[in-house]
Formats: sequence, structure tokens, C-alpha cells
Amino acid sequence: MGIREDLARVREEGLAAMAKATLGEELEAARLKYLGKKGELTALLKQMGRLSAEERPAMGALANEARAAVEAALETASKKLEAAALERKLKAETVDVTIPGKAPKIGHRHPMYLALDEIKDVFVGMGFTVLDGPEVELAELNFDRLNAEESHPSRDWSDTFYFDRDERVMLRSQTSPMQVRAMETMPLPMRIIAPGRVYRKDEVDATHSPMFHQVEGMVIDKNVTMADLKGTLNLLVERLYGAGTKTRFRPHHFPFTEPSCEMDVQCHKCGGAGCPTCKGEGWIELLGAGMIHPTVLEMSGIDPNVWSGWAFGMGLERTAMRRFKIADLRLIFENDVRFLEQF
Ligand code: DAH
Repeated sequence: MGIREDLARVREEGLAAMAKATLGEELEAARLKYLGKKGELTALLKQMGRLSAEERPAMGALANEARAAVEAALETASKKLEAAALERKLKAETVDVTIPGKAPKIGHRHPMYLALDEIKDVFVGMGFTVLDGPEVELAELNFDRLNAEESHPSRDWSDTFYFDRDERVMLRSQTSPMQVRAMETMPLPMRIIAPGRVYRKDEVDATHSPMFHQVEGMVIDKNVTMADLKGTLNLLVERLYGAGTKTRFRPHHFPFTEPSCEMDVQCHKCGGAGCPTCKGEGWIELLGAGMIHPTVLEMSGIDPNVWSGWAFGMGLERTAMRRFKIADLRLIFENDVRFLEQF
């Protein structure tokens, strides 16, 4: 048999082997068998040297054509295999949209923030602006500008967290400095509430924590009276604790209000008869309030002969405890999900 026949045969076999391969390894084996260094086509090419000078060009061209054809077949087969592999992969990885999804675990609103939202709702409904303020505060705003004398007991190191020996910077012990910040920045008349954290050197027990929350409230306008204060706070109490819930206003003293009072709410446990929850009183204290002291207005550049106002400060934990009948303050801060999930 001559080289021409061998070439034709090897060419056909090579093409067939490439076309037949269904796996990558089969194709690679075919490549080696025909196109590899020791492959059949390569071996035939090496035999060209044995041909006569006349035969060589035509046979060389034929050999090159055979090689190119087998190489092209290899290329085509390789593309085909790749496409098939991709197809298989896509099939294997398709998403089954009928499988039920994983429901995201939704957290619970903290009961104290639920109570705060209710409080905000009441006041925003009456046109109040909600303010946010710094927890690291100047003693000047926390005390001086609120008319607290140098000798005021809460200014003592044993009660207050100061940052410096000069007692200039502190963790605010009340949200009341927000009154001063509002008076300095907001146009008159104004109605604001300012919820936030406050800090005092108290030991942790069922009713105390060194960090707790207050909501400050303040109205400054013309002809504002104690009646406005009582009406507004009564509305708040009825919205929080139900229509008909009774309040009681007792005289008290705060340096920044005159007159000052504390507001009690009828005990939710006994309805006023007296029980352990209210320590036999029938009432539970909810907040301090009063008419803004003229000196406080004056210190912030507001003329007390033209403007008057009232203010209050309430403990948020206590309000939430009453709202949701929580017996121990520590539950509010422990963040035990078994507790939180109940609200
Ligand atoms: N800041 C007071 C406290 O922490 C509460 C308070 C009382 C706030 C009377 C007021 C107020 O705005 O008028 O005990």
C-alpha cells in the first residue's frame, strides 16, 4: 500500500475517532493517537522523506490537508463536548422554585421601644417635634442652665458620672438639658419631646439601673398654664393605660420648674385600693413636671413676661413596666429572647 492510501485511511479514521468521542478522555486519547508526537499521522508525515522529489510536493500537500482536517475535527469535537458539559451543569444546578423557602427569622420590638412608640404617637399627633440629644453632656446644661445650685445633691460625685476633675463634662443624669438645647435652637412657640438614655450611680436592683431612659417634654408658648400640662398628661395616660385611668398631681420641688409637681397614676393592680405593687398607696408615681421657672427661660434668652411653658420628665422603663405589667426592671435590660418574644 502506498502513502496516499495510508494517508486517506488515517485521515478517515482520525475524523471518525474525533467525531465519536463523548468524553474528554476519549477525545484526548484520539488526539494522541493521530496527532500526537508518536501518532499515526505524525508517523506518516515522517515518511515523506522516503518519497521521490516528484512525488513529495503533492503528497506533502495531501498530508498537510489530512492533518488540518483532523485538527479541525478535534476542535469541533472539543467544542461539542464543552457545550454538552455546560448543558449538564446547567441542568444539574437549576433552582427548584417549588421547594419551600427558609422563612427569615423576624426579631421582636423591645417592649420599652413599643411603649416609646406609643408615647411618640401621642405627642406627634399633638404637633410635638421629637428631638435626639447627646448622652455626653456639659454640666452647664445638665445643671446650671436648669437652675440647679452648686450645692444640689445630684451634682455630687457619688451620684453623677463625670469625665473630668473640673466636673464640666458628664454623662447626662436627666434628659432635661434637652430643654436648654431646644430653647437655644428652635423658634418659638415650641413643643418638643426628647427621649434618650440617662446615667446615675445607682446599684442594679428590681427598680434601679445606672443607665435608664427618660422622655423629656416641653411646651413654650403664650398664655400656657398648668391646666394645659394636666390636660396633655391625662391624655397621654389614657392613651397608654386605657380610657378612664385616673391621675393625681402632688406638689413637689424641681429647681427648673415653679410650681413643680409629681404625677401619680392609679395602681393597675388594685385599681386604687392599695396592694403590694403600689406599696399600699393605690397610686404609682410616673413623672415629674411643672411650669418652667422664669429664670430658666431667661437664661436661654426667652422673656418670661411674654412666654410661659411647662415641662415634664418621665422614666421610660417604668412606663413600659406598667404598660406591659413587667415586675422587674432587670428583665428590660437582660434581653432574654424568651422574655422579649412575649410582646
Ligand atoms: N429631670 C427630672 C428627673 O430626672 C424629671 C423632671 C421633672 C423633668 C420636672 C422635667 C420637669 O422637665 O419639669 O427627675
